[in-house]
Amino acid sequence: MPTLETAKASNAKFTPSYVPVALFVGGTSGIGQAMAEGFARYVGGRAHIIIIGRSETAAQETIARFRTPPVDSNATHEFIPCDLRLMANVRAVCAEIKTKVDRVNFLVLTAGYTSLINVALTEEGLDLNLAMRYYQRYVFISELLPLLQNTKSLGQDAHVMSVLGAGKGSPSRPLDLENLGNIVLPRTGSNMGVGMRGLTMSSGYTDAMMAHFASQNPTIAFTHTFPGVVNTPGLGAAVELGWFLRPLSWILGAVLPWIAVSPSVSAEHMLFALLPSNEEISQGGFFLRGATGDIVSSYRFETVVQLGDSEETSVLHGTLMPGYGASDRATKIVVEHSEVITRSRSGTETPGAA
Ligand SMILES: NC(=O)c1ccc[n+]([C@@H]2O[C@H](COP(=O)([O-])OP(=O)(O)OC[C@H]3O[C@@H](n4cnc5c(N)ncnc54)[C@H](OP(=O)(O)O)[C@@H]3O)[C@@H](O)[C@H]2O)c1
Repeated sequence: MPTLETAKASNAKFTPSYVPVALFVGGTSGIGQAMAEGFARYVGGRAHIIIIGRSETAAQETIARFRTPPVDSNATHEFIPCDLRLMANVRAVCAEIKTKVDRVNFLVLTAGYTSLINVALTEEGLDLNLAMRYYQRYVFISELLPLLQNTKSLGQDAHVMSVLGAGKGSPSRPLDLENLGNIVLPRTGSNMGVGMRGLTMSSGYTDAMMAHFASQNPTIAFTHTFPGVVNTPGLGAAVELGWFLRPLSWILGAVLPWIAVSPSVSAEHMLFALLPSNEEISQGGFFLRGATGDIVSSYRFETVVQLGDSEETSVLHGTLMPGYGASDRATKIVVEHSEVITRSRSGTETPGAA
């Protein structure tokens, strides 16, 4: 397990020869905000950093803490507002990003939502937990892939990181392929049951998505991490359990901050997992990592691979992956589902898609 000192020492070694382009989707709060600040500090402000979220005030306060970029470096720091609940908005913000940059080195996805009491469907008919924790991330990656590929063709680092719930999969808990998207009607059970399914599904789907993108882009790094318990505004919202379990919410709300780490400590570990001074990631591949940036499982594809139809959960292309929640067949099904669902919600349907 990398200690905080190890993480910091590794992060301090990140001195890219190029001006990195880094996107922090969710850089207005919590882990994402602390990662954006840490990243800006390690590069001495010399980066094109784009923060995406809703709060302009929080974004501008964050950017104000970055070191001013050197005048001759083409570096700049900016905010693009977006409500990520709607996939149409996510596609629009990706289109805007493409007018600003032609490469992306680091795509960091931390914007999220966790609720066991508000399990509404979005205006586009998606499960809210899944829309915010999974589908918007799928759209960001698929839309910005050409920019990540450009980056690699220039010989630079390209890395996508999703901070969510890595390492939670096991053979005894395969992905539920009968209720794709958690919207099969009737949405039976209590709100808490629907919410729990949304949370579990989003972690497993993210495993599948990252494995898929890695199989198609062997030189780009795709990482899914679990940050552990971090004292952020999001943690407070996650322990809201409704009036009938309010005493339990109070207890969790009182206890968790004591065992939680601060966003800045978590950010050092997440940056350790992100930055290529940590050599495991510079050649690309698929990584599942824990709260200290430790590797739970990893797989490097030598070439582009079409995943087969194996139904063995926790096995990727014939290799056992501890903590991995998908199988090759489940990955194909989830990716196909995500493609159809997100395109049909963005007015960009594939002809013939359901
Ligand atoms: N904290 C923990 O203990 C913990 C544990 C396990 C996993 N995680 C995961 O780690 C990630 C980061 O968590 P965190 O605790 O740092 O979260 P957080 O402090 O609540 O920050 C969430 C971010 O998501 C953005 N966001 C939320 N709804 C949005 C919307 N509709 N449109 C655009 N942006 C939106 C927020 O931006 P605006 O406020 O500007 O809208 C904010 O930047 C999440 O995926 C979370 O599930 C956290």
